[in-house]
Amino acid sequence: MPEKLAAIRPLERQDLELVAKWRQSSAAIEAFFSADPVSLSTQGLWYEAYLRDQNDMMFVIILDDGTPVGTIALVNIDHRNQKAEYARLLIGDPTFKRKGVAESASRELLAFGFKQLHLTKIYLEVFETNHAAVSLYKKLGFETEGRFRSEIFSRGIWQNVLRMSVFLDVARTG
Ligand SMILES: CC(C)(COP(=O)(O)OP(=O)(O)OC[C@H]1O[C@@H](n2cnc3c(N)ncnc32)[C@H](O)[C@@H]1OP(=O)(O)O)[C@@H](O)C(=O)NCCC(=O)NCCS
Repeated sequence: MPEKLAAIRPLERQDLELVAKWRQSSAAIEAFFSADPVSLSTQGLWYEAYLRDQNDMMFVIILDDGTPVGTIALVNIDHRNQKAEYARLLIGDPTFKRKGVAESASRELLAFGFKQLHLTKIYLEVFETNHAAVSLYKKLGFETEGRFRSEIFSRGIWQNVLRMSVFLDVARTG
């Protein structure tokens, strides 16, 4: 197990300005499916709905000293079927890329989902061309379970999307 480089903590209202800034970066615009512009006011409206949504848990990725460097989430939490979608992974400050931060935060998120929420399956969707993210997900144990052709229109072209998933050991056969 690699050294723990980052931790996650629940998103708070005071984080919204920073998150809105990160979401406006070209890296986020390229990686995320939604093309909607993100501003502090749209983030504020989203946050009010988020607080009422029991099936969406968003976290800020922090370094040892508490510095926020990115986001990660479990959404569409489905207790009946013991599954959730891993989403909104973003290292907002490029200075902290390629240092193992996303990997460390992802391992913490997966452990939280499997141990605290008693999930047995965690899945995600990613642009097929997002090689950095796909490589990370494979390293974390995700496997491709579907490829959706020309699924999302982004940056002027139709993009293929991979759906990937990871299971809790021994659970869910069939
Ligand atoms: C993808 C992203 C989250 C990776 O964050 P990171 O903290 O730099 O990643 P890590 O340092 O933890 O890297 C872990 C693994 O991810 C993969 N990886 C990360 N960046 C990579 C890159 N630029 N090229 C190839 N592989 C990469 C590698 O497998 C790496 O393992 P290795 O260091 O042993 O080779 C980051 O580049 C990012 O925020 N991208 C924009 C948003 C995004 O794509 N989100 C995912 C949406 S589905």
